[in-house]
Amino acid sequence: MSLVGIAAKRIVTCDVARATPDNPLAVIEDAAVLYDEHSISWVGPRDAAKDKAEITDFGDRVVTPGLIDAHTHSAWAGSRHDEYALRMAGADYRAIASAGGGILSTYRAVTQASEAGLAAELAARLRRMAELGVTTIEVKSGYGLEPDGERKQLRAIARARADVSLPSVIATYLALHALPESARGSRDHYVLRAGTSMVQEVAQQKLAQFVDAYVDANAFSVDEARLVCDAAKRAGLGIRLHVGQFADIGGAQLCAEVGARSADHLEHVDAAGIDALAKSGTLATLLPVASFTLRQDPPPVAALREAGVGMVVASDANPGTAPTESLPLAMALSVPMYGLTPAEAILGATRNAAISLGLAGHGVSRPRGSLTSGARADLVVWDLPHELAILQPWATPKTHLVLRKGQPIAGSAHRR
Ligand code: NIG
Ligand code: FE
Repeated sequence: MSLVGIAAKRIVTCDVARATPDNPLAVIEDAAVLYDEHSISWVGPRDAAKDKAEITDFGDRVVTPGLIDAHTHSAWAGSRHDEYALRMAGADYRAIASAGGGILSTYRAVTQASEAGLAAELAARLRRMAELGVTTIEVKSGYGLEPDGERKQLRAIARARADVSLPSVIATYLALHALPESARGSRDHYVLRAGTSMVQEVAQQKLAQFVDAYVDANAFSVDEARLVCDAAKRAGLGIRLHVGQFADIGGAQLCAEVGARSADHLEHVDAAGIDALAKSGTLATLLPVASFTLRQDPPPVAALREAGVGMVVASDANPGTAPTESLPLAMALSVPMYGLTPAEAILGATRNAAISLGLAGHGVSRPRGSLTSGARADLVVWDLPHELAILQPWATPKTHLVLRKGQPIAGSAHRR
């Protein structure tokens, strides 16, 4: 692929070096981006780009970095519409889970699915997510629960990872999500195997880049999760944890202690937890679709902002708490529900999401989440006139062209 370019009315660079208080997303008007399959080589005024390469002009449209969904459970099978209806009629999510539903219900569906079937369902889902403007997606295991089920889920994720027509996939081994029935009498043994030898195996086989654990009352304790984190550090895997979704049991402090990239959920976190995240530079990944369906109060966004904790917005795509495939929906909800500014919502799904996945920041080559010279050419041309319009809850794809490494993978112009 030779050097080519796109021009548009508004290029939202999300480049921190160019950002100002009046222009927090570092938008350049009447601008162009030049790139090849490796990276962006130039961003500047539309007129100055003309002689440098062949330019496609997208007129009055807005261009952003490809969206990055930093927290999903997209490799699921089955449906939990029955539980959803019960919950909407007043049943409690955790009571359903304790009675063998919830995560265990999806575990049964995943157990029955084949690796190829799971991979096909995941690929179809990722394709729909690409149509919504997403070019990088984190996908967790965590519905296999037993070693063979987790291996199957991770291999299905690896198949999607190898498909360049899909968004890029970052795989996370969700080591501790729920205790399967088979482990009821042997919790310690289960935790030890899932949290140590499995972490080692997953790392050796390069089946994941991160580990995760669900740290909460009724889920796993800080000490249990610490086992996973220590094993991850030994194996060279990154750490991101579900913490404080229902109760604050010190998960944020654990994130800080083990150097997690991200602490996710945080509906329940106290001042000491926020302080710990700020000191360790751990980002907060906010999941408004989950707290919307659970009818929860929002996380303490003002305190996180005040402390200087970087905020990420993600879909949490899963069949239970966040039955959605839409990162734009999560971004839309984050503004009225959580009080994020529009700029925070967009940075939370681009630059900050990239940092939380180790795909931007100090020393990262071909960073994602911003349109700057040297960055990967993952970008979206929106059928929208302004970046603020991305935050309206369209409930339908508004993408004109979605590029991954400079190649089209989705958008209305790609489908034509
Ligand atoms: O992020 N809290 C744990 N995990 C998921 C929900 C999983 C499920 O209900 O299937 C979450 O909300
Ligand atoms: Fe989750």
